[in-house]
Amino acid sequence: MIGLRNRLQVFSGNASRDLGRKVCAKLGVKVGDISVSRFPDGEIDVKINDDVRGADVFVIQSTFTPTNENLMELLIIIDCLRRASAERITAVLPYFGYARQDRKAEGRVPITAKLVANLIKTAGVDRVLTIDLHAAQIQGFFDIPLDHLYAAPVMIDYLKRLNIPNLVVVSPDVGGIKMARSYAKKLNVDLAVVDKRRIGSKQTEVMHIIGNVNGKNVLLVDDMISTATTLSEAAQVLREKGAKNIYVCATHAILCANAVEKITRARFKEVILTDTIPLHNSKAKQFIKILSIADLLGETIRRIHNSESVSSLFI
Ligand code: R5P
Repeated sequence: MIGLRNRLQVFSGNASRDLGRKVCAKLGVKVGDISVSRFPDGEIDVKINDDVRGADVFVIQSTFTPTNENLMELLIIIDCLRRASAERITAVLPYFGYARQDRKAEGRVPITAKLVANLIKTAGVDRVLTIDLHAAQIQGFFDIPLDHLYAAPVMIDYLKRLNIPNLVVVSPDVGGIKMARSYAKKLNVDLAVVDKRRIGSKQTEVMHIIGNVNGKNVLLVDDMISTATTLSEAAQVLREKGAKNIYVCATHAILCANAVEKITRARFKEVILTDTIPLHNSKAKQFIKILSIADLLGETIRRIHNSESVSSLFI
């Protein structure tokens, strides 16, 4: 194990190239040389161009759309590293796809988050590092060490600098109360909740607000923006209840379907996201503030590599 301390290597798949470069810059290590391309029939072709024998290797790959392609890339890269005799492999998933399928909400449905955990473990990883899982209990889907980071420290640092007066933090649904409560506590402001009943996988129905938002500036907090239905519907009911400016902060910028249009129409004062998922939509880039989690990831990787505690980063 002595060699491990001297041989930190960081690779990224195609999904997280920019983030991988930033993390390597923070760590002061060379970006791992890997090519991930396609065979003529579309199958994934991976070649690691660095010697990884005996190394402590981290692979950064978020599994957003195209989720299956990005996931499969990750699995093949892990297999490749294992066969190339890496000493220890850590899968770094800034965004863990399929996380919303974490339980049998009705009969005859899969628990795909567990299946994905099994696949990643079977491919040969020793550890997992991830950020703001949709449900914290997904940590237990892995029987190997998993470090679960929160983007909150990065967000809170920025929000404190905005110094928004008369603020209330709002969870857009009951499932997000824990996350929103932690933001409210750190910002030392009140908490409110949108009590929403879901009536289908694509449509939601907003019911009412628990708490007081009348005449207040609102910070809506969520783990992700997917179709932006949840947040735009929340904004509508918050305005009906007298909210003033509405800010949004969410960790994962999935932004599928017509999310960007919905966000535009919702007239948020500011939308703050992170780079766990890269934002390629040029229109969205003009009005969305992206905070980087690269330093947080880099520091965590450094500590894991040096067998130092990471718990102080989990604030
Ligand atoms: C729900 O439980 C999640 O925390 C998000 O609120 C939800 O997945 C966001 O999806 P959308 O943007 O499609 O409403």
